[in-house]
Amino acid sequence: RSITLLGAPVDSGKARQGCLMGPDALRVAGLERALRDLGHKVHDHGNLAPSPKTSEHAIHPNSLLKNLEDCANWVAALQDAAFEICDDTRTPIFMGGDHLMSAGTVSGVANYAQALGQEQFVLWLDAHTDFHTLSSTDSGNLHGTPVAFFTGQDGFKGYFPTPKGLVKPENICMLGIRSVDASENANITETAIDVHDMRAIDEGGIATPLRNFLSRVRAANGRLHLSFDVDFLDPSIAPAVGTTVPGGATFREAHLVMEILHDSDLVTSMDIAELNPFLDERGRTAKLIVDLIASLFGKRVMDRPTRSF
Ligand code: ARG
Ligand code: MN
Ligand code: MN
Ligand code: MN
Repeated sequence: RSITLLGAPVDSGKARQGCLMGPDALRVAGLERALRDLGHKVHDHGNLAPSPKTSEHAIHPNSLLKNLEDCANWVAALQDAAFEICDDTRTPIFMGGDHLMSAGTVSGVANYAQALGQEQFVLWLDAHTDFHTLSSTDSGNLHGTPVAFFTGQDGFKGYFPTPKGLVKPENICMLGIRSVDASENANITETAIDVHDMRAIDEGGIATPLRNFLSRVRAANGRLHLSFDVDFLDPSIAPAVGTTVPGGATFREAHLVMEILHDSDLVTSMDIAELNPFLDERGRTAKLIVDLIASLFGKRVMDRPTRSF
């Protein structure tokens, strides 16, 4: 397989800084080497910069919004870059950056799927649903909005660039959810997004909802984008994130997801979001993420499939 890396050092989606170092932490933790050791070709495209500032921009009535213009410029740059980097023979890994990045990466890859006449699916691994609109957010942190943006919810027009690709709510599966604000909860419940919170995973395991979703992707001959927020993981194994929530995915649950995804051979692009190396402990979170990506790209315990999918 050929893999392209693109750094998206987005740090505008919240107040606490540090995610801009995410791409470099993944490089230092050996992402490229880990992928090459598995026999893949890797090309690192370096880091993207946001689109240049436009002279005028609209003031939003929600005065809590943080860095609205910077966020809009990142979304503009990322949705074009993601579309351009898409290629049937290469799998892009977008190295964030906070989760605002996915407003751009997902609309970009969805635009590509549309050009091919294929359905775009998204697997969202996160503690949060990130389904706020510019009006509903009460933190003003725009890393809480990407899913609303790329599913085409109202209220972004005139503030964010127009999404060039959209994802249908029924094509989205969320795993690991354990922190949802009241307004997000009300809004997401109205959609067909398939949300599996941690309680459901505690009771029934993580493999079944994942396999069910993958069957749907396969049946539709769809493209699959994986959006991996570091806070999907339990903070005890992944401290390098600003929005830790207790009770997250364990080491084995996370690897199992990646192993099943590998065996499915369905993932066509991915994001790593919210890694904040400033909060890490001697690089352990960055190293864990590299190991998880290695599992996604074929690393396994023994040199034979554990079970055919
Ligand atoms: N729902 C909260 C908010 O909107 C938390 C969002 C966290 N998002 C993230 N990508 N870490 O402020
Ligand atoms: Mn998130
Ligand atoms: Mn999160
Ligand atoms: Mn389900």
